Parts: sequence; structure tokens; C-alpha cells
Amino acid sequence: MSQINENFLNLQDSYLFSTIAKKVTKYTQENPDKQVIKLGIGDVTKPIVPAVLNAMHEAVNEMGTKEGFKGYGPEQGYPFLRQAIVENEYQKRGINIQEDEIFVSDGAKCDCGNIVDLFSENNKVAITDPVYPVYLDTNVMSGRSGDYNPKTDTYENIYYLPVTAENNFKPELPKEKVDLIYLCFPNNPTGTVLTKEELKKWVDYAKQNQSIIFYDSAYEAFIQEENIPHSIYEVEGAREVAIEFRSFSKTAGFTGLRCAYVVIPKEVKGYTKQGKEISLNKLWNRRTCTKFNGVSYITQKGAEAIYSEEGQKQVKENIQYYRENARIIKTGLEKAGFTVYGGTNSPYVWLKVPEGITSWEFFDKLLEKANVVGTPGSGFGPHGEGYFRLTAFGTRENTQEAINRICQSSQSSQSSQSGDGVKKGKITL
Ligand code: MLT
Repeated sequence: MSQINENFLNLQDSYLFSTIAKKVTKYTQENPDKQVIKLGIGDVTKPIVPAVLNAMHEAVNEMGTKEGFKGYGPEQGYPFLRQAIVENEYQKRGINIQEDEIFVSDGAKCDCGNIVDLFSENNKVAITDPVYPVYLDTNVMSGRSGDYNPKTDTYENIYYLPVTAENNFKPELPKEKVDLIYLCFPNNPTGTVLTKEELKKWVDYAKQNQSIIFYDSAYEAFIQEENIPHSIYEVEGAREVAIEFRSFSKTAGFTGLRCAYVVIPKEVKGYTKQGKEISLNKLWNRRTCTKFNGVSYITQKGAEAIYSEEGQKQVKENIQYYRENARIIKTGLEKAGFTVYGGTNSPYVWLKVPEGITSWEFFDKLLEKANVVGTPGSGFGPHGEGYFRLTAFGTRENTQEAINRICQSSQSSQSSQSGDGVKKGKITL
């Protein structure tokens, strides 16, 4: 008799974005005449830039020749891409990262999920609340969560770090010892950031407690303000305690192509039960060689082209396009009277839902009244209740139209507007 991994039975419902997709499909089937605009999942809409396309076309042609054909590549990624990442993402910022500390993969979601393979079930895990659901669910699947409490919508053994307007969306250091800490900045879902000094506190905590920080910086390309670190390795001491996850999905529109990387400096160590230090870089390398055959040569050539002069120019134009969408969402909603966070250093805008309704009720209302899809804050964790996320990755036309529709459907209890055009008062939809 085959026995299942019963930890899976401890998971709640389906994956957040699948639940939303199902709801939207049902709505569109029942209302075929409605033009639904999707600003839910953070999926890009701008096509792959010409520099990347050209490099991929060349790679396709190479693969058709006797001399240029490639079979299995290095599991960790081709040296040309690992070196391009080192030079452009790290050395240019004065950060010391070596080629053999970069592991190219097919996505940051998979990397964030797979990294838990290296750690025993006994680790205490800390996540922010709200959080990108993958961090939590993969720990539930691998037996690190303990039981689910439906009353609080939390798991017994997980240490939750609330991030709400009350603490300016900055998690406080844990009051007890935790071993594995997930941080994502610019943050998904709240769109907020930490300064270097604020991040330093976490690095210091991790050093003191022999913890590991999993730092997801998939959205770093959206940072516009000074003194906001793009990489955790800008912080002194982080090479000893941090693993960084990066992706080409949001920076270069690779959500459909699939290419990302993990950075594991050689100094980062885990421990055996007896307290012996073990290199996590070595363990991850071993895992990668066993379970992965690498990203396709064609995709890696495309990723390398992002770092060419024209590639940089083209992907930066796309980022600027999404930034402008974020600005349109943020200012439009503020004018309509909503309280809005994020959107400045991030493609995500996090808004307070009108008083008296839940995030999912707001989702339903927005779908029915404005035919706009977003993501309910409570889907990211209990402290996400009362909030709602909109993504700036839509087209300009759809973004503008979605905001017009939301503004038309929403009413402020006070009809007058302040001098800056911002409505004041209670908002209803
Ligand atoms: C999101 O919408 O949170 C992200 O697109 C999900 C992901 O990157 O997997």
C-alpha cells in the first residue's frame, strides 16, 4: 500500500491564485458580455524585448548545427550567464559574489519551494504576515508547520511577523529564537521596502541566532528610492547568513520563458544535530545535480542578452512602463478616497478595503461592479485581512480603464474634495 505524505492534508484549500482563477472563469462563463480586467496575479503583459528575442533566435539556429548543438548543459547554469549575473547584478554594486555561488534555475517560485529540502523538519520558520503563499505552503508540505488553527488561520509551529499599517509594514524581530526567516523586499504583497539599516537588524539577528535568511528580491528592479538595498549582500555580514532568490520574470518579462537564480555564498552554513558546520552551497549543488538538468541553452542565451547595452535599455523601458502603471493605480485610488500603500518601489499596490467588508467580499464586489480582478489581502495571511492587492503588470489601457471603473463604482461619503483633488471620508463600493 502506498502511503502519502500526510503533511499535504494540512494545506488549506487550493493555491491562492488558482482559487482566484476559478472564480474569474466562473464569472466570465456566466457573464460572457463583460470585459474583465485582470490585475490579480503578478504576470507581465509586455512582450519579450528584441535583444532577448534575437539572442534566442541565434541560439535556436546554433542548436540546429553540428558545431553549435548542445545536449545537457551544466546543472548550475552556463558559465556565460552565471558570470554575466555576477558582473551586472553584484560587482557593479560593489558586492562580492562569485560565479560558483550562483545557481541558475527555472523560477524563483521553484527555488523558494525547493530550498527547504536542505533543512530538517525541526527548524522554526518565521514568515511575514501577509506573505507570498509559497513560503508557508512548502513548509506545511514538508512537515515544519504543525497543526492548522482555523480560528486564527495560522499554523502552530510557524512564527508569524505581522506587517500592517500600524508598524509601517516593517516586521519586528522575533521575540523567540527562529531558525529560518523568509524576507521579501520590495515586498510581495504590500509593495513596501526596508532600508539598509532596517535590513541590517535582520542580518545581525541571524548571525546571533545562527539562523538563515531566505531573501526574495524578485522585485528589486522596481526600486527607485535611494538607500533601499537591491540585494541583501549590500548589508555587511549577509554573506554568512543569507540566501538570495532572484528572477528574470518581473525584471525582463520571463514569466513564460522561465529563468531565475539562487545565490548561496560559501560562508553560509547549516548545522548537523551535533553542531557541525555544513556548507549550504555544497548541499544545494548536490541537490541541483541530482534533481535538475538545467535551464535550456536557448533560454539562458536570452537571459544573458538582458545585460547587453540594448537589452538593458529595452528591459528598463518596460520596467518604467509598469512603474507608470503603478503610479496611475496609486494616484487614481487615492483620488477616489482609498488609503493606498506600496507602488513606489514595487509593481504592487496595497490598498485598504472599505470599512465593514472583508477582502474576499471586496474581491467579489469589484468583480461584479467594476469587472476588475485583484487579490484579496487575506489570501496572503490573516493580517492581510482588510487589504487588497492590485498589480501594475497589466497593459496601460487596461490599467487606466480598471482605475476609471473602480473610481466610478466607488463613492466617498463626503462629496467635497480637498485642494489636491483627494476625496476625504468613508468609501463604499
Ligand atoms: C504574485 O502574483 O504574487 C506572483 O506573480 C506569483 C509568482 O511570482 O509566483
